[in-house]
Amino acid sequence: MINMFKIGNLSASELREKYGTPLYVYDEVQIKNNISEYVDNFKSDLYKTEIIYASKAFSSLYMYKLVKENNIGVDVVSGGELYGVIKEKIDPTKIHFHGNNKSEAEMDMAIDYKVKNIIVDNFDELKLWAKKAPNIDYELNILLRINVGVSAHTHEYIITAHPDSKFGYYIENEDIFDSIKLIDATNNLNFYGFSTHIGSQIFDMKGFMLTIEKLFELMKKTNREIKHLCLGGGCGVRYTDSDKPLTLKEFSNILIDKVDAEIKKTGIKISELSIEPGRSLVANAGYQLYTINQMKKALNKTYYFIDGGMNDNIRPALYGAIYSVDIANKIDEEKTMEVSIAGKCCESGDVLFKDVKLPKAEAGDMLVVYTTGAYGYSMASNYNRLPRPAVVFVNGSNSKLAIKRETYEDLYKNDLD
Ligand code: LLP
Repeated sequence: MINMFKIGNLSASELREKYGTPLYVYDEVQIKNNISEYVDNFKSDLYKTEIIYASKAFSSLYMYKLVKENNIGVDVVSGGELYGVIKEKIDPTKIHFHGNNKSEAEMDMAIDYKVKNIIVDNFDELKLWAKKAPNIDYELNILLRINVGVSAHTHEYIITAHPDSKFGYYIENEDIFDSIKLIDATNNLNFYGFSTHIGSQIFDMKGFMLTIEKLFELMKKTNREIKHLCLGGGCGVRYTDSDKPLTLKEFSNILIDKVDAEIKKTGIKISELSIEPGRSLVANAGYQLYTINQMKKALNKTYYFIDGGMNDNIRPALYGAIYSVDIANKIDEEKTMEVSIAGKCCESGDVLFKDVKLPKAEAGDMLVVYTTGAYGYSMASNYNRLPRPAVVFVNGSNSKLAIKRETYEDLYKNDLD
């Protein structure tokens, strides 16, 4: 009887003994498999393809190192993410610099490192790049972020392309054409193509189909060569049994087939097509381990209290996200209890997993939460001055500390009294 949950060949209790809890654990083999599944299937004979990891889902120097070793591109959205990829010496031609409202300091940092691909959010931003262009000593590829006005089927907070979204050029607006003119008129800026992102945790591909059609209509209107199209991220993952995601192969094939069909239908050619998966590259490789310390009965509910909380996973409180959980050391035991799992934060919303079936717990048992690899650590905070947990990567029987647990000293390192 296997009664202890393992990640790779390491049991949850070995990991706790070595690193403590709460702990984020990544299965490196799963990340590599996810990358390969995309790279092997997101392919066409009609153009080159590129997988660009959206590192907002999870960034760390070690993750950037894996990105580099696996030779895929990387999307950064801030000076902080850019700093990490520069530190890991990622090839600047593989970096795609996104973000609305980039600061001039961030732009200068990108120019300094010769970041090749810039995704411009709006005309005002473009004017700033054009102002800097005379001092740039290489050719910058400019992709315009287009809001195609398509709402993908997902939670409201993670939709990024409804007509009034804050992201990108609205597809009906003339400033797209004014921008192309300005790029053409500016030395060192190269009009490279269009980029979109219609939402996250998407299961229904209809939004993508419509998006691709709209992008080809737009390309037709520009009446000029478009080298690169980027379709953003968005592929959904399985958090609970009610989520039925496509495989990465299916997701890739559907996009490629549609783009190929549009090329054949319209006669419009592209040289490169990319996607920017974040969640679907890392979510199912990530786990969180907590220790259950106390139990209590309220009027109708039983709570198990864990040693972390909404500060290390804000998604349940922010989006109503639902996860699957188990007691890691009672994996085969009968789930006789219906409990809610609450964290340490002084906030009634700090109930991470509501009304879940679990075995009866004792103090010291460990909770494992599945599919926490995306937007977990990257959205963690120090609310209530709780230190952020450590992050560990497991590869078979080996483990590597990728981010140290914060200390109390770390929490006060910027404070002055
Ligand atoms: N490309 C762009 C331009 C994006 O804005 C995003 C995500 C991605 C790619 C990656 O999308 P993905 O493959 O991960 O769906 N914090 C939210 C998700 C926000 C997504 C923001 N943009 C969550 O926890 O669900």
